[in-house]
Amino acid sequence: MKIQITWLGHAAFLFDFAGVRVVTDPYLRGNPAAKVNAADLPADLILVTHGHNDHVGDTVEIAGKSGASVISNTEICSWLDERGVKKTLPLYISGARKTAFGSVKAVSAVHGSSLPDGSYGGLALGFLLSAEDGRRIYFAGDTGLFGDMKLIGDEGIDVAILPIGGVYTMGAADSIRAIQLIRPKVVIPMHFNTWELIRQDASAWEREVSAKTSARPVVLPVGGVLEL
Ligand code: NI
Ligand code: MN
Repeated sequence: MKIQITWLGHAAFLFDFAGVRVVTDPYLRGNPAAKVNAADLPADLILVTHGHNDHVGDTVEIAGKSGASVISNTEICSWLDERGVKKTLPLYISGARKTAFGSVKAVSAVHGSSLPDGSYGGLALGFLLSAEDGRRIYFAGDTGLFGDMKLIGDEGIDVAILPIGGVYTMGAADSIRAIQLIRPKVVIPMHFNTWELIRQDASAWEREVSAKTSARPVVLPVGGVLEL
């Protein structure tokens, strides 16, 4: 199975699993780093890790235009239902669902989750995306470092996508400790350089990853694609 991973900016990624298109945290409108319009984004499935505006983003519009299903926690799914999203698939920590490309499992993230209008957004999630051929991607969402990342790593991670921006999430130093716990083959950084407050030196991070972990760092430019 051919898998393509495209960074759309911030925590928004487009995964293509042999033609099945999965979008994460589609914050595009108002995102200074984004280059694509929500209206043009093809999607079969949208994954929303938590309720913050820079993650829920344009989910309602993209689901409406593309007809994509949305996986998120129970509270965010109910909130999206009320806003006209036709197909929501609630998932909570350790829960999994079969998908057209394999499966999606929810894992913990250490972070908040209130929705843009102040509604309660449940617990923040990360996701494990498993392809039918067994390859597995860990999309961490917004999170701090936590020891149970080792348990996530025990599942066997081919690609980990981790926040490195600091302030709201792990910064570069804690992300190195996270990689040591997760032990992925490849690691892609996200949630940095969207704003000045989360500015990071990606080249310095890349060198640290290579020196201190066994993972291969892949720093994608916005619009950049990794093919597996
Ligand atoms: Ni957040
Ligand atoms: Mn965020």
